[in-house]
Amino acid sequence: MAGGAFVAHGSGRKYEGGVTCFVIITCLVAAMGGLIFGYDIGISGGVTSMDSFLKRFFPSVYNKEHETRDDNNMYCKFDSHLLTLFTSSLYLAALVASFFSSTVTRLFGRKISMLFGGLVFLVGAIFNGAATNIAMLIIGRLLLGVGVGFANQSVPIYLSEMAPAQIRGALNIGFQMAITIGILAANLINYGTAQIKEGYGWRISLGLAAVPALMITIGSFFLPDTPNSILERGHPEQAKRMLQKIRGTDNVEVEFQDLVDATEAAKKVEHPWKNILQPKYRPQLVICTMIPFFQQLTGINVIMFYAPVLFKTLGFGDDAALMSAVITGLVNLVCTLVSVYSADRFGRRILFLEGGVQMIISQILVGIMIAINFGTRGVGELSKGSANLVLFFICAYVAAFAWSWGPLGWLVPSEICPLEIRSAGQAINVSVNMFFTFLIGQFFLSMLCHMKFGLFLFFAGFVVLMTICVFFFLPETKNVPIEEMNRVWKAHWFWGKYIPDDAVIGSQTYTA
Ligand code: BGC
Repeated sequence: MAGGAFVAHGSGRKYEGGVTCFVIITCLVAAMGGLIFGYDIGISGGVTSMDSFLKRFFPSVYNKEHETRDDNNMYCKFDSHLLTLFTSSLYLAALVASFFSSTVTRLFGRKISMLFGGLVFLVGAIFNGAATNIAMLIIGRLLLGVGVGFANQSVPIYLSEMAPAQIRGALNIGFQMAITIGILAANLINYGTAQIKEGYGWRISLGLAAVPALMITIGSFFLPDTPNSILERGHPEQAKRMLQKIRGTDNVEVEFQDLVDATEAAKKVEHPWKNILQPKYRPQLVICTMIPFFQQLTGINVIMFYAPVLFKTLGFGDDAALMSAVITGLVNLVCTLVSVYSADRFGRRILFLEGGVQMIISQILVGIMIAINFGTRGVGELSKGSANLVLFFICAYVAAFAWSWGPLGWLVPSEICPLEIRSAGQAINVSVNMFFTFLIGQFFLSMLCHMKFGLFLFFAGFVVLMTICVFFFLPETKNVPIEEMNRVWKAHWFWGKYIPDDAVIGSQTYTA
């Protein structure tokens, strides 16, 4: 019974028009907003392992790392809060910024939010690249965080609103593709700049963040805003023309009417924040909170931030550790393509469920391998064969994340909210995501020190929980027009009771 009730896709109103070149190009440009986020995720781990950087800004950490330690417990080798704060502080700034950007996105449009995000990120990159003291470094980090907060709030909404329902998944996942490209580019750049003997490599790594910042700033300057947003700001004629342009047909009446209905409903709402707390938005509130929480509790950023450190901890040599980080970066990028292909064909749920099971198995196996080889005392060594096996399981884990929780963690929250709570829902998504990214960035190294190989089992336990939750509580949203999403909730065995009958646009043609 449960399975049948989850699936409620496809049979709503049929909109005219299809996929145009214009919509694809605008979405590709907007998706570049993910580059700045990805670049940042990938760059800080490498920079904080560069001696010249540590000596200049964090001499105490540098000294501690080069002390000869009495114990040789490998789990605790890299535990330093000051250092992790450099990585994680950005996400606190992003968290705060996402609330402001929610208002900007609603009142001034998605485009302005992206443009502003790009500009602030650009200034942050300049501060960091030119840093001569720790204050400049911190101001730079905070500005980068504000940029990420604005971009992550507006880009996924932009993509979901522009895209025709049948390829919304693929276009939205462009954002995650850009994130993975940003991470890999940053890994490769760090690999190169780490070789610079004169010790200014970190400056290049941090300063090059200006490149993706310029791309999104210039790109968004030329982007049009979404019809939904133009209408929301009171320009119906212009909104209709934009809809005709992106759908490639004059006959957009049905879809436009749905947008008008959604906007009317949204206008009645005075306080989007108070609004999302009403019982009828309970499913969106819960899902927009749970998805980012779970996405981070997969433990993915342990790999993204600290892969080189983790591989070094496991006894890989310096080069092998950096190379392994590049390998996981590549796997991450390539496997995201699987979800671009499958999200609209096979649906979101199947990707979540398969990805979850694959992650659980890989994490348990990594945990067991580390337990066998290092025990609880953290003393031991990996043979070459075992090291390759650990790398293989970590890749299997990253692959599964890359076609499930990675892209869907941004896609699903951006497509499930009706217009009147869309910006608020996305702000909750971004801020919860940033908060837990911060926590993991900040505490992973001490968690590893205390929980040892159990850390991998800890994350596996969360993946079990999230996979069960998806199975029972997340309805399928593939191919459902974004302004008709309420009918999916209405048809759901658990959430249905929260949705009043008059909240369902397009319900007259819906057959559950
Ligand atoms: C997550 C990031 C993660 C990245 C890895 C994103 O969806 O939000 O935290 O580092 O995927 O590709």
